[in-house]
Parts: sequence; structure tokens; C-alpha cells
Amino acid sequence: MSRQKMVVGNWKMNKVYVEGLVLANTVMAQLQQFREDVKVVVCPPSIHIQTIASIYRDYPQLSVGAQNCSHHASGAYTGELSAAMLASVGAEYVILGHSERRTHFNETHQELAEKVEQALQNKLSPIFCCGEPFDKREANQQEAFVQQQIEESLFHLAPKRFEQLIIAYEPIWAIGTGMTATPEQAQEMHAFIRQLIASKYGDDIAENTTILYGGSCKPSNAAELFAQKDVDGALVGGASLHAEDFVQIVLQRV
Ligand code: PGA
Repeated sequence: MSRQKMVVGNWKMNKVYVEGLVLANTVMAQLQQFREDVKVVVCPPSIHIQTIASIYRDYPQLSVGAQNCSHHASGAYTGELSAAMLASVGAEYVILGHSERRTHFNETHQELAEKVEQALQNKLSPIFCCGEPFDKREANQQEAFVQQQIEESLFHLAPKRFEQLIIAYEPIWAIGTGMTATPEQAQEMHAFIRQLIASKYGDDIAENTTILYGGSCKPSNAAELFAQKDVDGALVGGASLHAEDFVQIVLQRV
């Protein structure tokens, strides 16, 4: 996959069915005339994926993703959803390693490596999240922290498979807090991640990797983040729950 301008909405555990339909439809209506080459991915609660994927079927610019998948292929794992199931109802992407999943559901580097495998085997593009907590940034250890997340969950991949990934840098202290990383902080980390990828997979793959920023991205700060040369787009949480805000962010990613 080549480097792509992209905006992803992570609805988290919000929106019952009808609310989700209204939001998905409003986003589509407002983006119908938008012809720029920006990929827009909506990641609703999994129970809404099938409906939204069918609404977006005729709009190649719009895709649907899941927020998680099991690290198992199938079997006796009550309550879990496999990558194959998500793909079978129209998901094309899956967010993996979000800090909320790492914190509340104890996802480990190893488990995430297995989830990445499951996703790739089922033709879902992983949107792999990484990012440091505040104390690591205060101690100026953010790069070592992110490096370990990426190396331990992704660097076992052969180059052809690594190319299917999207990386999202989400400093934990900026998620849902209103505290955005400055454009300089985002650029610095994105450049570091690209360099890390280059050291393992070479310059071509690094240059072609899409790296998104996430953490309190909103219409008022999107443009300055997108102006950074290594920021290819955004993973948007809170603002993706409001069609106008989400669309405003997309329109700035030209
Ligand atoms: P936020 O969330 O935009 O609400 O900070 C981002 C995310 O968690 O993906």
C-alpha cells in the first residue's frame, strides 16, 4: 500500500443503532461532492459495521473499520469477534493496540502481534496504535517507549506484510483530554517512527507508510497537524461523533 492521506473516525463505545446510522449517513452526504484523494474510514461499534459498509459500498473514498479483533482465528472464546467475521460483513480496516484496549483489557505486545497476524490473514488493514503515557514524555523517554511497542508487535512481519499496515501515533496524555500534541511534537515522533521503519525495512517502505496522528484532533488544530511533513492524517475520537466536526477535519486533509 502506498502512503495515503487518511482520516479515521473511532467512535469507541458510542451510538446506538439509529444514532450510528444518522451519523454515518450525514458524513456520507457531506462528503459526496468531495473529490480529493483522502481516504475516510469510519470505525463504529462492530454491531453497526454491516449496515454502514452497505451504505458506503458505492463510495470508494469511504470505508468501514472495526475497533478491535480477537487474536484467535475461531473457537470457544465467548463474546469475541474474529478478523474473518469482521471482514465478512464489510470491514476493511481494524484499529489494533488502542491505548484504551492496552489499559483496560491488558493487551500485550505479543497478543497484538497475533491480532496483527489475524487481521492480515483476513485482508483487514491494521491501524496500529502506539504512544507514550505522560510520565514517559516528562522523562523524555517517549521514543524508546514507542520503539518498543512497534518492534515487539510489528517487526516480525515480512516486508510485504508490513506494507499493509497503517500506524497511528496517539500520545496517551492527549487522548480525550483536550491536550493535543503540538505540531512540532507530532512531527518529531512521526519522523522518528518513519526512521525506525527505514532502519528495519528500508527507505522505500518507510516513505510509503501512512502515519496518522491521534489525540484531541479537532477542526481548530487539524490543519497545523496536517501541515507537518510526516503527518499523513488523523485518528479522531471525540470529534468523529459529530458529523460537522469530522467532515471539517477531512476537508482540511487535502
Ligand atoms: P480523541 O481520541 O480524539 O477523543 O482524543 C482519539 C482516539 O482515542 O483514537
